[in-house]
Amino acid sequence: MNITIIRVPDYESMSRQAADFLLKKIRELSSPVLGLATGSTPKGLYEQLISIHQTQKISYRHVTTFNLDEYIGLTASDPNSYHAFMEDAFFRHVDIPASQIYIPNGEAAYLEHECTRYEALIDKKGIDVQVLGIGQNGHIGFNEPDTPFSQLTHVTTLAESTREANARFFSSPEDVPKQAITMGIASIMKSSEILLLASGARKAEAVTRLLSGNVSEDFPASVLHHHRCVTIIADDEALSEFTRKEEEHD
Ligand code: PGA
Repeated sequence: MNITIIRVPDYESMSRQAADFLLKKIRELSSPVLGLATGSTPKGLYEQLISIHQTQKISYRHVTTFNLDEYIGLTASDPNSYHAFMEDAFFRHVDIPASQIYIPNGEAAYLEHECTRYEALIDKKGIDVQVLGIGQNGHIGFNEPDTPFSQLTHVTTLAESTREANARFFSSPEDVPKQAITMGIASIMKSSEILLLASGARKAEAVTRLLSGNVSEDFPASVLHHHRCVTIIADDEALSEFTRKEEEHD
């Protein structure tokens, strides 16, 4: 299998291992390009990277970042925008120059043009490691089930289940935007390496389906079986169902 699975006991260890993984690239490469994700999953990873920057005085000045996605219909200063999330959870605590931070512009007047512009930037810089979470429905970025694997950065309509899952961040469920700009599956697959993180029982079913090895557009994360270099760091709870099924097989 092209997928390396690192099993860790809990969220804290997942975050630490993920930070070590990225730190290695940050140290080894002269101008590392990291693909970043939002959501609850990578928050601990960002906390670890901030702590390393602050306590070990390691600079990230040479790092460039690309975020996977952004809502359409929220201003960049809206606390629920992914611009605001990233600023708060990571960027304002570290020394990555603003000119090296790329996030799709969900406020662009011409959204199609914004998608083309973003994809061209990804092609120009090339992503060394793309960090991914996984949705309970198998989405990666905002590539919902049945997104063609061939799609590049595009405007997408969020699945109702995704809007419900993300409603916890908004004052009311109706406030969750219906659309977003997301890197496509083909954009994600261009990255040299992929690092997928999963924590908690909430993700156990999706992780089991991913590891089953069936590749199908109705489960977007399954495309990763076609990538040459994927590492999954998952905790015991996220791997619990997979392990149980494996044991039943033995
Ligand atoms: P989460 O979201 O990290 O908030 O669980 C992951 C995702 O939906 O991709």
